[in-house]
Amino acid sequence: MARALHREEPPPWVLDDPLAMGLAGEDGAEVAKRFRTELSTETLLSFTRWVCVRARLPEDIVETAFANGLRQYVILGAGLDSFAYRRTDLLTELRVFEVDHPASQAWKRQRLKEMGVRPPPNLTYAPIDFEHQTLRRGLATAGFDFAAPAVFSWIGVTMYLTVEAIRATLATIATCAPGTRIVLTYNQPLSALHGIGLELDKAIRAFATEAGEPFLSLFVPKEIEALLTEMGFAEIMHFGPDEAIRTYFAGRSDVRFGGAQRLIVATVLTRET
Ligand SMILES: C[S@@+](CC[C@H](N)C(=O)[O-])C[C@H]1O[C@@H](n2cnc3c(N)ncnc32)[C@H](O)[C@@H]1O
Repeated sequence: MARALHREEPPPWVLDDPLAMGLAGEDGAEVAKRFRTELSTETLLSFTRWVCVRARLPEDIVETAFANGLRQYVILGAGLDSFAYRRTDLLTELRVFEVDHPASQAWKRQRLKEMGVRPPPNLTYAPIDFEHQTLRRGLATAGFDFAAPAVFSWIGVTMYLTVEAIRATLATIATCAPGTRIVLTYNQPLSALHGIGLELDKAIRAFATEAGEPFLSLFVPKEIEALLTEMGFAEIMHFGPDEAIRTYFAGRSDVRFGGAQRLIVATVLTRET
């Protein structure tokens, strides 16, 4: 829904997702109505723009990596991510794995069918529940090549998981081939927020709790960095409101982000023997 609303702004768009509105369907339209009522225009814009930023950064990373020979992209908690259906130009050679909760994945596949969108041949679905199954098993079953590097995106998901599930998933990624990168989002605790960040976070949390998906894990930047380092990742790059504006909204004085959710990128380096 947020990616669809972004297309109601005058272009240029951070992300042009023409499938977003169809995928979100009637449920999405209901959510849009609610957020339009509950949020100020500035807060709603900061939300829809951020949702596009957080989708765009991993796509940029994977496109650059693809140009350098990388051939595997794993989208964890894929939800209604439409990369695989929009970028069929890359999927002639890039293998994409959509990992998601079985219920979410079944719903998405039904939506795609209703829209007449066929999954491209190089896309593999890997249904797993991060709380009860290991990513390693899910990926192995899907035919992922653990000996070749990959880009993993994990966008808009970690806040719904326990720390144990986050650690278990990161542990699997940390054993992937050197050069493997992960780009993920994490949400900050209320104590770290103010202004539109606080307003937006309260609205999103209330919505998520009502939907039976309360926020479980929150981090400030130095905590998530420490976790990634402990799990064996290096070359950590923080990406929050300042980086988003510099990268995708240069020269735009009207763009503001609250910073309730931030991105971070990390790399698996060659293991010492
Ligand atoms: C807010 S959506 C984000 C979807 C997508 N990455 C995006 O940015 O649009 C959260 C996703 O996390 C997934 N998720 C939440 N808890 C999960 C779990 N325990 N196991 C697997 N996936 C889970 C949901 O199925 C959903 O697809």
